[in-house]
Formats: sequence, structure tokens, C-alpha cells
Amino acid sequence: MQLYNLRNKQLASQYVAIEFLKQIKARPDAVLGLATGSTMTDLYTQLSDLLNANHVDVSGVRTFNLDEYVGAGPKDLHSYYAYMHQRFFNQNEQWNEDNIYIPSGVAEDLDQEAKHYEDALKAVGQPDIQILGIGENGHIGFNEPGTPFDSQTRVVDLTPSTMHANSVHFKHSEDVPKQALSMGLSSIMRAKRIILLAFGDKKIDAIQRLVNGETTEDLPASILHNHDNVEIIVDDVIYQAIK
Ligand code: F6R
Repeated sequence: MQLYNLRNKQLASQYVAIEFLKQIKARPDAVLGLATGSTMTDLYTQLSDLLNANHVDVSGVRTFNLDEYVGAGPKDLHSYYAYMHQRFFNQNEQWNEDNIYIPSGVAEDLDQEAKHYEDALKAVGQPDIQILGIGENGHIGFNEPGTPFDSQTRVVDLTPSTMHANSVHFKHSEDVPKQALSMGLSSIMRAKRIILLAFGDKKIDAIQRLVNGETTEDLPASILHNHDNVEIIVDDVIYQAIK
């Protein structure tokens, strides 16, 4: 696990955008594992810009998002489907909807949806790059503390800490989703390369525990110690606090 201080969100997002650009140019049918949330916003702006500037054909690229809120359909502005389309997939005409995988939070049978998602993920082989954010409690995807390391895509209950963090995006607290469909920890670990991004003082504790602590299911992100190609990219705020 390599830790890098890339100073700020803009520079870190630029680095990851360039890595994705290189990956897609090297393999036009690349498999990319994508994340949402506040951490990722600049990444999608910069990557869309670079893909357009380089006239890259993305029609063969397969993307798998980590998670979706239960109850959030594509037309719901709070859904991760809407987040991804507004910020990324609508920014380049060639994205092929058949190659965009986001679990459906409004599927009639959510357990079946989770199983199909895991099967689809396995069928494409190892993702080339998986991008991750991290929760204040150390979650990756929505794998909350205590999640077994061998978990796969499934319905998860969100913890009060995660619901509180997510509530900034909702006007009414009663609208904050209590459940999500999330790739599991073992699903995430199948990627060939993993890049985790974290910015700002709210993430100091989680990164401190990740970098300096033990590998334990109490801190889901610590499973990354068991992977041999992981970069943890932080800003100055986090780096200075933990060094
Ligand atoms: C989102 C996801 C979550 C977030 C994490 C951090 O797809 O899987 O693990 O990465 O909750 O969220 P932000 O970036 O909003 O602080």
C-alpha cells in the first residue's frame, strides 16, 4: 500500500483522471470500477474533459459502480444513477448505456438484483482500476464496520454515521436512505489496481487507522492491506495530520 500526498483535491483528481485516460487508451474495452460522493466530483469533470480533448472512443469501456441507494430510481436526483449520468456519462456522447452497470435501487427483488450484479461483475473478469472513497467510519463502498471480508454484492443497512454524512445532500432528514445495494469487500478486491482518494479533516481518523492500524473487519478499508496494488491518495490536510 503506497501513500501519496498530492496536496489537494484538484491535483489528486487530475492524477486519477490521467491514469483512467491512459488505461482506456491502452485497453478500449477496459473495465473500470467507479465510486460516487463528494470526493469524486472533480475526477469526473476532469476525466470527461480529458476524454473529449483526446477524442477517446469510450463506447467499449465497461463501468461498474460500487453502490446505489435502495429506493432511488434513475429519475431520482439523489440516486447514484443520476449523479453518474449528470457528471460523467452525459458529458461524452459515446458512452454505451449497455456497458454502464449501476445496481438498481428500485429492482422488485433486491437480493436477485445484487446477485445478478455480482455475476455480471465476475463475468467481465478483473476490473483494471477500481476507484474508492472512504467513509469517516472506514467504509469502502457501503461496506460498514463489521462487514465480513468475503462479502459480495448485497443489500446493506447504512450506519447512523454514514446516514449523517450523507444527509448533507438531502433537504429533509427523513429522506436520507437507510439502505443501499453495495459491492462487497471481496468484489472490490478482485480489481487489478485500486486507488483510494480521501480529502479533508473529516477523513483524518479513517486514514490514520488505515495506514497505521491493523487489518480488521472493524475498519473495512483495512482489507486493502491484503491487495498488492493499492494507492492511497490524500491531501495536505490529511498527510500532515497523520505523519
Ligand atoms: C460512494 C461510496 C462511498 C463513498 C464514501 C465517501 O459510491 O462507495 O464509500 O466513497 O462514503 O463519501 P464522500 O466522498 O461523499 O465523503
